[in-house]
Amino acid sequence: MSLLIRSGRIVTAVDDYFADIHVEGGQVVRIGKDLQVEGTRVIDATGKIVFPGGIDPHTHLDMPFGGTTSADTFETGTRAAAFGGTTTIIDFAIQTKGRATLEGLETWHAKAAGQAVIDYGFHMIVTDMPEERLGEMGRLADGGVTSYKLFMAYPGVLYSDDATIYRAMRRAGEDGTMICMHAENGIVIDEIIKRAVEEGKTAPKYHAATRPTRMEGEGVHRAIAIAEVAGVPVYIVHLSSADALEEVKRARNRGVHAYAETCPQYLLLDESYYDKPDFEGAKYVMTPALRHKDNQDVLWKGLEMGHLATIATDHCPFCFGGQKELGRDSFTKIPNGAPGVENRMALIYHHGVNAGRISLNKFVELTSTAAAKMFGMFPRKGTIAVGSDADLVVFDPERREVISIDNPATHHMKVDYSTYEGFVVKGYPDVVIARGEVIVEGGSFHGRTGRGQFIRRARYGDLLRP
Ligand code: URP
Ligand code: ZN
Ligand code: ZN
Repeated sequence: MSLLIRSGRIVTAVDDYFADIHVEGGQVVRIGKDLQVEGTRVIDATGKIVFPGGIDPHTHLDMPFGGTTSADTFETGTRAAAFGGTTTIIDFAIQTKGRATLEGLETWHAKAAGQAVIDYGFHMIVTDMPEERLGEMGRLADGGVTSYKLFMAYPGVLYSDDATIYRAMRRAGEDGTMICMHAENGIVIDEIIKRAVEEGKTAPKYHAATRPTRMEGEGVHRAIAIAEVAGVPVYIVHLSSADALEEVKRARNRGVHAYAETCPQYLLLDESYYDKPDFEGAKYVMTPALRHKDNQDVLWKGLEMGHLATIATDHCPFCFGGQKELGRDSFTKIPNGAPGVENRMALIYHHGVNAGRISLNKFVELTSTAAAKMFGMFPRKGTIAVGSDADLVVFDPERREVISIDNPATHHMKVDYSTYEGFVVKGYPDVVIARGEVIVEGGSFHGRTGRGQFIRRARYGDLLRP
């Protein structure tokens, strides 16, 4: 399959110029002015921006959690991602406590293979890691799973104590791999929750009230301190507050390999959403919780200044009907998570680039390039260059959309509400190309279920080798 993308404005994390892109065999083979290719399909990108396909390094598809399972499968979730301009995801495989991590990985391979419509990788969620099991981590890395997620939150579910965290970090450091951390002090938070429930505080808004930002800051501080001692790079997932960002900044200033992602929900929504009537606040029950609005400007500044490395979604959809409703009598039973994989690129373009908060190059870095580099996929993914996968988004900077469950152009996720209902965006993907195949065009899906490939990722440590 050959394609010529004609006259687009090509924007990567570092470039910005007008040229044609010739795609052959799934890769970019030539970039230049007035390219001539016989018998190829031409896509006219005049007036459009051509970005590298988005990379979302934090999704939870088909994940058992909170007494139910996240609503998007690998098929529906990756299809929705594609409509939004994301062509690669990194999802989370889960180790069942007491069982081999490799077994958990197999389960997630089986969920994704033959289903995903875009390329995907896995982080491995480690729930226990006794000394005798550490060798598994090397085998995971050899199989292209070169990052692990550990949880300081959710005691009794996904939580790891500090000893487990240290052991896993030490081994990951030896292997040149990366630790992703859900950094919140879950033990203290559980005490706060117990007290709130005893006092009859069970409405959705108490989800936020019982998770103070200081407990996120404490988790980030501890995660980075343990990582420093263990000698491993650490990536704080879904960072939501100024308190937490301060800890990342302090560590980076002293030269620690500490990174963090934030998500559109922490940049654009705030804790007032929990006050919505008729239990609708449950739609926003996610962890960390939405914060006071004051945190948003600090996070945007953190993105601009490079203290925050990436923007992911933490897409973890649960339907309002039948799933969020499990917690009608207590917020503690509301499955934690919200949808967003389809909305990230347009939201960040509109509220970041159009609003003058970040440059076009920074937009690409945050939504694609940085994740590709950090998680061992660059330069195959995350840029537009000869030899890179032809994962491309032809983006119309003038196209307006209202994000809504009722707008068929903006909602393909298999969930009965939109986290960003009514948000207006200017700038939207028109054509999405994944490894050289046009998979979204004219508002329709042209890809094939199962066309997505598992990406064996390199180690973070390889970045530091010549
Ligand atoms: O609420 C969330 N974030 N659910 C998904 C699990 C996690 O902590 O990332
Ligand atoms: Zn988490
Ligand atoms: Zn998550």
